[in-house]
Amino acid sequence: MCGIIGYTGKDDAKEIMLDALELLEYRGYDSAGIALLNENGTQIVKRAGRVKDLRNLCKEKKPVGCCGIGHTRWATHGGVCDENAHPHRFGRITLIHNGIIENYRELTEKYALEGKLASETDSEVVAAVLEHFYEGDPYSAIRKTVLKLKGTFALAIMFDDQPGKIYAVRNVSPIVAAVTEDGAILSSDVAAIVPFTTDYFVVPEFHVICLSTDGIEMFDLSGDKAEIDWLKVDWDVSRSGKGGYPFYMEKEIMEQPQVIKETILPRIRDGKPDFGKEGIPDEILRDCKRICVIACGTAMHAGLVGKSLIQAMIGIHVDVVMASEFMYNDPVVDKDTLVIAISQSGETIDTLEALKFARKCGSPSISIVNVKGASIARASEYVIYTNAGPEIAVASTKAYTTQLAVLYLITARMAVARKLWSDEQLTAFIDELCRVPEVMEAVLAKKEEIHRLTGTILNAKDVFMIGRGLDYSILLEGSLKLKEISYIHSEAYASGELKHGTIALITEDTPVIAVVTQEKLKSKEFSNIREVQSRGARVLLLLKENEELEESGQWSSVFRLPVMEDPFMVMPASVALQLIAYYVSLDKGLDVDKPRNLAKVVTVE
Ligand code: F6R
Repeated sequence: MCGIIGYTGKDDAKEIMLDALELLEYRGYDSAGIALLNENGTQIVKRAGRVKDLRNLCKEKKPVGCCGIGHTRWATHGGVCDENAHPHRFGRITLIHNGIIENYRELTEKYALEGKLASETDSEVVAAVLEHFYEGDPYSAIRKTVLKLKGTFALAIMFDDQPGKIYAVRNVSPIVAAVTEDGAILSSDVAAIVPFTTDYFVVPEFHVICLSTDGIEMFDLSGDKAEIDWLKVDWDVSRSGKGGYPFYMEKEIMEQPQVIKETILPRIRDGKPDFGKEGIPDEILRDCKRICVIACGTAMHAGLVGKSLIQAMIGIHVDVVMASEFMYNDPVVDKDTLVIAISQSGETIDTLEALKFARKCGSPSISIVNVKGASIARASEYVIYTNAGPEIAVASTKAYTTQLAVLYLITARMAVARKLWSDEQLTAFIDELCRVPEVMEAVLAKKEEIHRLTGTILNAKDVFMIGRGLDYSILLEGSLKLKEISYIHSEAYASGELKHGTIALITEDTPVIAVVTQEKLKSKEFSNIREVQSRGARVLLLLKENEELEESGQWSSVFRLPVMEDPFMVMPASVALQLIAYYVSLDKGLDVDKPRNLAKVVTVE
């Protein structure tokens, strides 16, 4: 949460930072601010609101300089107001912060800061502690300060008497950095760096970097110089814009056929799933007695699909645990439990902490992560990257379906490792997986038809989504998508469970979306649909193309899904549900990419 940017070089830092903050705004958009440092001192421009509001304010204030830091905020400590916007300044220190300082009250007391702070933030307290320790040596002040902090932080700091220099340090919250043609840049993620270069590095935890026009130096907390481990952006940089679509979300939905291909094809060798490049030994897939998937939100929904697949096809028990609840349920994980952590950003702190706990219990672990070099990728034993490219819209779409694609591959590799399938079975499975991109294309080609079908939902106060088994898992995700970007209350419900209470909420004003894609569940699902129709609900039905529909005249809204084998129907159905949510939000005139109260990367517990 929160986007941070720092630039030092020969160009106008204001313009560079404003552009970068627009790219980082998906990480938080409660307020934004920049600080520029030059020989005449430090100038801060900040305000509550979006980056475009900050841009307007900068036109008025005209800050000048070639060295600066900038921030876009997702509020944690202190409300949304100009004073709480970053950068914060105390004495000779100006800083921006992403994360949470848990012991800020103790620090306020210890350093007698009561009454001296201009904001209600934990971040300003860090600036004050730095000021306390600063005697002309930034490294020493940072070292001493960091040792006093409890919590998570990515800090970018400027010292008044160090023009042209930006210092940074982090614990858990991410910072990446790169050298530019005439200086250096740091950011919360590579999105803001790719306009300059494709070579970057992830700043290791508890290492201090210094950016200057000569490049970047890095030291560990003992003061020893540290080697930089350079990475290269391996996705098409031209993909980071909106590509002519009004919102990133639509662009990212449309990209799915391509990124699914990029995720699966490099991992199929001689017709078999292959994790050789990831170095994953078959033993951990063969010998585990159970699997525990740890993830949050959409990534957890992907895990639920994985559970259905693995339990049905491999026959071992899979738990899917909300990472935020993992620690509070006395988790039973051990060396026989394969832990799979799923995360688009790779920075979700709940998932990261749960994964670290599981590793301490001796569990082997694989993470499925989209962002290269992210904390979860580094904290797990093995990592499988989804090749979704940058996902900017807050609502996850292509990351979800690429996570699913990896879970299909894991299922197939487990079957190989355990010698469960014949060659024919394996070939049929892999062939069907390879058909996913073309099937998705077929759904995307009918996006206008889906748009027309959303009319019944647009003005609804509540929407129910019903299905059983895999259909229910898909709807959990479809429902999350709808509520987060349209603000319509939506609930996914296992359709057989409705009659145990919740059906009391169904009236003619409650549109219901039903998904029926699983042959073995079909008749029961239709009975449940009849139950809600009898209570007056209008049903939007998602059904396979080849499925006969009794009394077809009775159905006002039916969307036909291209046919795949049942375990794969998740893919076309998910795309249709994403488009439903997208068009409802669009037609309501909402900011599809930046829904209220949310942020893309969730680095607070
Ligand atoms: C919803 C959404 C979130 C994320 C969740 C976990 O559209 O994107 O529910 O899935 O916050 O984030 P990651 O995958 O980054 O761990």
